Amino acid sequence: MEKKSCSHVLLVPYPTQGHINPMLQFSRRLASKGIKTTLAVTNFISTTIKPQSSTVQIATISDGFDQGGFTEAQSTHDYLARFESAGSKTLADLITKHKNSPHPIDCVVYDSFLPWALDVAHQLGLVGAAFFTQNCAVNYIYYNVHHGLLTLPISPSVPSSIAGLPLLELRDMPGFIYVSGSYPAYFEMVLLQFSNTEKADFVLVNTFYELEQEVVDTMSKVGPLLTIGPTIPSAYLDKRIEDDAFYGLDLFKLESSAATAKWLSNKPPGSVVYVSFGSLSNLSIQQMEEMAWGLKNSGFYFLWVVRDTEKAKIPADAEGEKGFIVGWCPQMEVLSNAAVGCFFTHCGWNSTIEALSLGVPMVAMPQWTDQPTDAKFVEDVWKVGIRVRVEEDGIVRREEIESCIREVVEGERGKELKENAKKWKELSVKAVCEGGSSDKNIDDFVSRLIKT
Ligand code: UDX
Repeated sequence: MEKKSCSHVLLVPYPTQGHINPMLQFSRRLASKGIKTTLAVTNFISTTIKPQSSTVQIATISDGFDQGGFTEAQSTHDYLARFESAGSKTLADLITKHKNSPHPIDCVVYDSFLPWALDVAHQLGLVGAAFFTQNCAVNYIYYNVHHGLLTLPISPSVPSSIAGLPLLELRDMPGFIYVSGSYPAYFEMVLLQFSNTEKADFVLVNTFYELEQEVVDTMSKVGPLLTIGPTIPSAYLDKRIEDDAFYGLDLFKLESSAATAKWLSNKPPGSVVYVSFGSLSNLSIQQMEEMAWGLKNSGFYFLWVVRDTEKAKIPADAEGEKGFIVGWCPQMEVLSNAAVGCFFTHCGWNSTIEALSLGVPMVAMPQWTDQPTDAKFVEDVWKVGIRVRVEEDGIVRREEIESCIREVVEGERGKELKENAKKWKELSVKAVCEGGSSDKNIDDFVSRLIKT
């Protein structure tokens, strides 16, 4: 596609790591297609990051909690309500400020968790595109609940049948449905994603067609959507895709990539278990202890991300002789290292699609939100992982952790999982390379922006 800089897209992520990452990478992909991009983070987030890219500018808006972000709010409801009022005003100010600049903003790509951003865009006469961080399956379940097509509570004994999706047991449903009444403010937020999507000029989803074909086809009937993922930097995916040198916006103190690469460098191919529960999960002390023993007893090397706020929960000498525990690491670099043979993951959507795209089989231990549904697909649809068995007290025992790891790394089933992981890696690369399903959709988005 001819490179032309004639549109300026402002991208507004929800201010957590799992939402900033895909939006940032999508900005870089748009920039590689000649679009000027600016990422609008909250004032608080801007104090914790060190931007280093020449292609994506950083601007700020307010969530109403400029000193401490979410931690300052009295409740999730309080946070979301203040974000809507302060965010709407400061987003409008930011757009207006650019009006007479050489590059006025003409499109807002907003996280679907922030539907009010579409109203701001439209009031100012701009194009508005919803960006869904999570996959189509999860979003289509929320769509069905929002429109009363799936009534709650779900029966614990009869699987749910939803067009485009496999039969779903209660435990395969997103956490807000699975544990009825949990996190009511977040549940309301995920349903409100669909409060105005029919007015959005575009609906973009961080997935790719081949991965979720049936549900993409089904969901496309209720509104036009464009699959644009995986939003993974070319440095890890395929060097043929054009974007600038990789950089991330880490909200946590990063263990240097030199340190993780050095630790991985003398480990045989496929011998390391990489363990991470993402940026938000909060495991109990008992679960962390079971995790530590399960990893140790497996006898494999392991690289375990334990965020600083979680460190007090792990037993002394959890590393032992074969472990390396870090507070935060360059995950995509780790997943693309040949030494890594298994990803023990909470199945956050970014981690899941990163593992799929980098060809790493998984042990799935979902915690909440979209993760149980992602785990169901990992195990039963994409067949790239094993889901752990949770005991009645809610704990996954060390023996289970050890046996799932063994099965993935050296078991018979592991062979099939590795083959499938390889297949998904090839398909995801194909989707974003020139002419692939996601690349075509991004080109379509860009060309329609240029025309509008
Ligand atoms: C949240 C939700 O929990 C998740 O389910 C949803 O789909 C997106 O928002 P999070 O729990 O942080 O995200 O998980 P995930 O979606 O996997 O995102 C984590 C991101 O942080 C990934 O992009 C991963 O590469 C990155 N990461 C994680 C690092 O860069 N380093 C680490 O050490 C750990």
